[in-house]
Amino acid sequence: MASISIAAFGCSPRSGGNSDGLLEAALAGAREAGAQVQQLVLREMTIAPCRHCGGCSDGSGNCVVQDDMQRLYEPLRRADRIIIAAPVFFMGLPAQAKAMIDRCQPLWVRRNLGLPVAEADHPRAGLYLGVGGSDMGHLFDASRTVLASWYWTLQVFERRELTFGNTDAFGAILEHPTALDQAREAGQDLALWHSSGSERS
Ligand SMILES: Cc1cc2nc3c(=O)[nH]c(=O)nc-3n(C[C@H](O)[C@H](O)[C@H](O)COP(=O)(O)O)c2cc1C
Repeated sequence: MASISIAAFGCSPRSGGNSDGLLEAALAGAREAGAQVQQLVLREMTIAPCRHCGGCSDGSGNCVVQDDMQRLYEPLRRADRIIIAAPVFFMGLPAQAKAMIDRCQPLWVRRNLGLPVAEADHPRAGLYLGVGGSDMGHLFDASRTVLASWYWTLQVFERRELTFGNTDAFGAILEHPTALDQAREAGQDLALWHSSGSERS
């Protein structure tokens, strides 16, 4: 059997920060489980916001805006697993993540027309790795809501998450007693996940 492919989106503007640390650990676990990983670092890309121009309203799945988003549509549609790692900014996802997600509108249009988006030939799974500086109870709620809509669009119905509040200083995640081990395990589990067949499609 071909190895599991993972598209891994790093959404922090801070290189080597806390969500990057979680992502590295998760990907190490996934690679140990035999997965092939494509890392997609949004801070290194130029992704304009969606213009709501209607250029994707034909359901082709194509966006008329020519920038680095164009090279993300294929992994978004083909990968067996999709990981997104992001800090909380003003109680939601950072602009880098939101711009990429909004530019998935061509895929949403396809889904809304009843056309397939996922090109993987089996059910897909996703993992959200979140960090935030405070420990507020609803710290990750807004990000979760956006990601639920994104995963629906991408036809990713097995959805997992690992979040850590109270993680603010650069490198704080490295001091956490269990976070990196948990992330490594989550990455392994994600790679090894087998569909029970009960997921929605
Ligand atoms: C612009 C900005 C907004 C932030 N907003 C929040 C917030 O609303 N709630 C919170 O708990 N932490 C907030 N933080 C703190 C970050 O979530 C925290 O430092 C996190 O560890 C950064 O992750 P990173 O190292 O992966 O970039 C904010 C940080 C920045 C720079």
